[in-house]
Amino acid sequence: MRKTSVQNNTINNTGEGMFDPVCGMNLKGIDEFKKNQLAEKGLFFCSDHCKSRFEKNPEKFQNEPLIKLRNVQKVFNLGGVDTYALKDLDIYIWEGDFVAIIGASGSGKSTALNMIGLLDKPTSGDIFLKGVNISDLNDEEKTKFRSETFGFIFQQYNLIPWLTAFENISLPLIFSGKGINNKKINASIEGIGLGGRSLHRPFELSGGEQQRVALLRALVSDPDIILGDEPTGNLDSSTGNKLLDILLDLNKKEGKTLLIVTHDADIAGKADQIITMKDGKAIKDHQVYKKIYTE
Ligand SMILES: Nc1ncnc2c1ncn2[C@@H]1O[C@H](COP(=O)(O)OP(=O)(O)O)[C@@H](O)[C@H]1O
Ligand SMILES: [Mg+2]
Repeated sequence: MRKTSVQNNTINNTGEGMFDPVCGMNLKGIDEFKKNQLAEKGLFFCSDHCKSRFEKNPEKFQNEPLIKLRNVQKVFNLGGVDTYALKDLDIYIWEGDFVAIIGASGSGKSTALNMIGLLDKPTSGDIFLKGVNISDLNDEEKTKFRSETFGFIFQQYNLIPWLTAFENISLPLIFSGKGINNKKINASIEGIGLGGRSLHRPFELSGGEQQRVALLRALVSDPDIILGDEPTGNLDSSTGNKLLDILLDLNKKEGKTLLIVTHDADIAGKADQIITMKDGKAIKDHQVYKKIYTE
């Protein structure tokens, strides 16, 4: 398999076929990219943000990223009309990072997240997870890979209404044929402040409680990567902040990679890397998360 583009990044200065070694963006078509003189011939970056991340910790960016999207396109055909939800999307996600995906409604954030989490297939392009090209996997392998690698949380919680909190949390273990450790699950329920709620059904729980159940369900198989599609979107700000603190703890203390789609500039402001989507592409300015909502 091709290695990360750090080596390739030094080829020329036209931007042709060069990728930012931190965010993975194709530098072709970027008007003004940044050069750094660390490597013999210099390295090129889409922005000062990526340049300075690289300079702080060059070793981190020498290996294969945890997640790599290359030329990913997603086309939906509705009534004979093609809609490009993603257009040649190039992204790197590094192990242990907290990454926020932001952008206007319809910019392709959920589609990108679903591709990364193997919930949907790209129309073309490649996705590498832990160095594996997932288009080479069959459906069964994909399902196994997904359940072992990802924990998902969604804006609408997506709990099964007729199951108790405990049963909702245990569900992934039933699907994957793993044993249910009652003690461990009850301890996680206590630990997240839901003691006494274990036998409640979703309609008997507040939004914040439901989202904590959904988070425990996402964590029950001990995934390396947590994917959240606007997980605080239905919560009031204080409840949302509590959930975010739990997610940040999982990132900082347990090293889980966190990839969160959000409209919340405060959440995005805490991320190691921001991916700003516009019209199905990542745009180069990672830090202008406030600007896009006022354009
Ligand atoms: N299942 C689908 N069928 C048709 N079009 C879709 C589908 N899912 C998303 N789209 C379109 O793709 C674009 C990106 O959608 P989405 O990824 O949901 O954006 P975001 O999450 O940023 O709001 C939108 O134009 C949307 O209408
Ligand atoms: Mg969305």
